[in-house]
Amino acid sequence: MDFKTPYIWKNWEFILWDEALDHNLTHWLHYGTWVFEWIRFYPTSSWPKIFRLQEHIDRLFYSAWVLEMEVPYSKKELIKATIELIAKCWEWTGYIRPIIYYWTKKMWLYPKWATIETAISAWKWWKYLADKAIDVKISKYRRTDPQTADMNAKVSWWYYNSVLVSLEIHKEWFDEWLLLSTDGNIAEWPGENIFFIKENNVYTPSLWTILPWITRATIIQLFKDKFNINVIEEKISPDRLWEFDEAFFTWTAAEVTPIWSITYNWNKINYKSGEDLSLTKKIEAIYKNIVFWKDSEYFNWLS
Ligand SMILES: Cc1ncc(COP(=O)(O)O)c(C=O)c1O
Repeated sequence: MDFKTPYIWKNWEFILWDEALDHNLTHWLHYGTWVFEWIRFYPTSSWPKIFRLQEHIDRLFYSAWVLEMEVPYSKKELIKATIELIAKCWEWTGYIRPIIYYWTKKMWLYPKWATIETAISAWKWWKYLADKAIDVKISKYRRTDPQTADMNAKVSWWYYNSVLVSLEIHKEWFDEWLLLSTDGNIAEWPGENIFFIKENNVYTPSLWTILPWITRATIIQLFKDKFNINVIEEKISPDRLWEFDEAFFTWTAAEVTPIWSITYNWNKINYKSGEDLSLTKKIEAIYKNIVFWKDSEYFNWLS
């Protein structure tokens, strides 16, 4: 496995990658009762730096709280463990995956008999998506309805929806799929948020069916700080896809990804997001500068 790193942090200790095994009769495995984060670290002119670690750990604890997990660590301890893991693995660029899960061999649905286990893994990886603008299609699946669960939590079971979409993607020649919400508006990709631009107005779907994602909040703030643009958060019907000049996805793993086209009901709508002078390209460059620790105004976003 080429992304293998030497250690995994598990319940206070660093263990060897190959020793991170678990039993096949555990609560988390059967019922998806684990919460997680997907965090990115970057090579910089100094030590490798982790982007928005505090915010990811905050969301991890929120997700654990939703599942009523009593986490035996403080946020500070998990932040320290994450930074130590990166140093110990001697990696410069990649992803970090902290998980907290219910571990028990009792197969009751009720999870509170279980112990809480915590692990942090890191693996090397350059980029999730290729460095190019992408072609997208609207999926036949809808985003999980927020009335079925707390969508502010990043809990494993609802990635079932994302996995189904990823299976769909591999059957057709599109780079990504976009999901509508159960009320028929634009929601998000299985793991990314979407923004649209028309002239100098920027739009993104309002929080309802989507998690309050960290890159989304970062981009909203950057539009304000760098261009004095207030991003409009509202329900966006797919009938408006023709109105926009540009569109892009955001996500920790894939950063800012320009969209060339979206196919909806067999119509292909083209965007200018991949062009050099587009606002998308400008915000992408600003974001890259920040994550590589080159914009001193945002040094506090890196640990
Ligand atoms: C469903 C979904 N939407 C959006 C995102 C983007 O979130 P973030 O910007 O916090 O990485 C993710 C990433 O974890 C996701 O899983």
